[in-house]
Amino acid sequence: MFLKQIEERLLSELDPHVKLVLETGRYIVEAGGKRLRPLFTVLSCGMCGGKPEDALPLGVGLEYIHVASLLHDDVVDGASKRRGRDSANLVFGDEVAVLTGDYMYAKALHLFSTYGTQLMIKIVSQAVMDMAQAQVLELTKVGEIISEEEYFQIIDGKTAVLFGSCFAVGGLKGGCSNWEKLFEIGLRIGRAFQLIDDLLDYIGDPSKTGKPVGNDLKEGKSTYPLLCVLEKMDKEFVENILSKPEPTDEEIERLRKEVLNLGGGEETKNRAKREIQEAKNLLKTFPENEFKREILKLVDFVVERNL
Ligand code: IPE
Ligand code: IPE
Ligand code: MG
Ligand code: MG
Ligand code: MG
Repeated sequence: MFLKQIEERLLSELDPHVKLVLETGRYIVEAGGKRLRPLFTVLSCGMCGGKPEDALPLGVGLEYIHVASLLHDDVVDGASKRRGRDSANLVFGDEVAVLTGDYMYAKALHLFSTYGTQLMIKIVSQAVMDMAQAQVLELTKVGEIISEEEYFQIIDGKTAVLFGSCFAVGGLKGGCSNWEKLFEIGLRIGRAFQLIDDLLDYIGDPSKTGKPVGNDLKEGKSTYPLLCVLEKMDKEFVENILSKPEPTDEEIERLRKEVLNLGGGEETKNRAKREIQEAKNLLKTFPENEFKREILKLVDFVVERNL
């Protein structure tokens, strides 16, 4: 539902006049992706009684923000794979990747100034501010064991608030004024989504996720699968590997396996499920229709994908 229209609009709205920006933008957009953010945006609009298509350019803007954050994230993380392909920073260089990301952020703002409202711009710009700050916060904790509180602060900012914005913007476009509740629904889903992304870094199949396993540990990032079993582990051993600038593949594998043996995978999935359950509870007060059913299907997919 709506996927084809989203794909078309994503390509047609890009429209830069500098050829290399077009090439880079197309490269990452055409590499695919699940398009969860634009889907949630149009479906939230439909669920609230609006015409889903009316929210299409706003959903496209939100996907541009997501793509821009991926372009920047891969430079920051020094990643070489994205969406199953060589990352844009590897193919076009850091400079072009960063600047194309800037172009896409501005393109999103432009779309919102045409099809959105001031309130929507306020919600979305706050989300982008949160994302940038959370990415910096995450960087400052590299090599350290963080608290669960810090972990959720990071994932709420870098991922969940954008999902919150998709639900809020879609709902507002559909005529619902209770955008805060919709934001909360998206926030819970986004939190679950990042928990699963962090789990996939431990157990994912690279041919399905489009990115390798063990990357977060290699980058010195402690995420939920590790944090939730930490008290059963030798903290010194963990800290020693996390803080190494270049840990060996064997060390990463040892840590990864130990986390899974201690049940860190299951526990992470359960935590994600609890967030999803809360989102579903909040959804109960919204009208039952085909769009809501589609949202519920996507929400289940968030937890079950590639596991
Ligand atoms: C990847 O997001 C970045 C995170 C927030 C974890 P997605 O997994 O939604 O990426 P695509 O759009 O499907 O490639
Ligand atoms: C994603 O965090 C956050 C943003 C893109 C803002 P990750 O660093 O975990 O994303 P992946 O795993 O590279 O997709
Ligand atoms: Mg990354
Ligand atoms: Mg990152
Ligand atoms: Mg990740």
